[in-house]
Amino acid sequence: MSLVDKIRAKAKSSVRRIVLPEGDEPRTVKAAEVIRGEGLAEPILITRETVGAPSNAAKLAAYAAMLYDLRKAKGLTEQKAAELAADPMYYGMLMVKSGDADGLVSGAVHSTGDMLRPALQIIRTAPGMKLVSSSFLMECPDKNIGDNGLLVYADCVVNPCPDAEGLANIAVSAADTARKLCGISEPRVAMLSFSTKGSAEHDLVTKVREATRIAHELAPDLMLDGELQLDAALVPEVGALKAPGSCVAGRANVLIFPDLQSGNIGYKITQRLGGVNCFAVLQGLAMPCNDLSRGCSVEDIVNTVAMTAVQAQ
Ligand code: ACO
Repeated sequence: MSLVDKIRAKAKSSVRRIVLPEGDEPRTVKAAEVIRGEGLAEPILITRETVGAPSNAAKLAAYAAMLYDLRKAKGLTEQKAAELAADPMYYGMLMVKSGDADGLVSGAVHSTGDMLRPALQIIRTAPGMKLVSSSFLMECPDKNIGDNGLLVYADCVVNPCPDAEGLANIAVSAADTARKLCGISEPRVAMLSFSTKGSAEHDLVTKVREATRIAHELAPDLMLDGELQLDAALVPEVGALKAPGSCVAGRANVLIFPDLQSGNIGYKITQRLGGVNCFAVLQGLAMPCNDLSRGCSVEDIVNTVAMTAVQAQ
């Protein structure tokens, strides 16, 4: 079974309500039909018209009041809160926040930042989480790599330049995503660098080493090691040579990139040159919200909704 088939089967097992705030975008409308038809989730299409309908006035006012309450300390006025709540993206986030929906998917029209900002401001981080980040689920044709061909990459979307503590949080979140979404029972996390175990010295390497130390404190039972070069993380012979005795080297299935430049470039190289299927999810939010690429297909939207539904279970 492919990863997508597994996720779709899991989504069907306990149906969740997923908001689609780009509700008049043609691919989204088509995807909602497929999602409903296959029983993957209960899609809720939101448009400016549905939000502004007279029959919806009371709900809109309640959401505007909730938004004002959430953001007044940050200087948001009642008038601005009312304006923002009428925007389908904010309205959708407020539905999720209030429990009227279980998750949200957008991005066929909006940029990543336009979706992330309201998610960070309204949904916020899950209890105990310091940071929202992302994981890419990479399905490699070579089944000898990672966990039967599955690799998790983080963070490739959200945090431009995480500090050591942020990087440690990303590592722990990515291991959690590997378990929950990919069914990887034993995440083995490599903290990537251009150095393996002291082969180079630089402030950038020190940050990865420090992140490794903090991640061990945060999750003492997690199999995690660093700093490791990519080949030492993935190739058994190189791992044995460069990091002998490491519980991760040569058999990592979760790869933590030191910053967003390397993570974003790394996943795109893997995808484009390696012919690898990949799927992005956000992690660390109190309720699941996920972003699409603006070039997404109907199938991409259906799959992202299924993943969001599984995260909401
Ligand atoms: N986790 C938790 N909270 C966060 C995070 C985070 N990672 N980042 C910001 N916040 C919080 C802030 O503390 C702030 O909270 P507050 O307003 O309650 O004080 C709020 O979110 C807004 O933060 P800002 O820093 O003001 O927001 P900013 O405008 O910088 O946007 C964003 C944050 C959108 C995540 C920004 O960092 C960003 O644009 N990241 C890159 C996104 C991107 O373009 N990715 C690459 C393309 S995607 C792809 O290729 C698939």
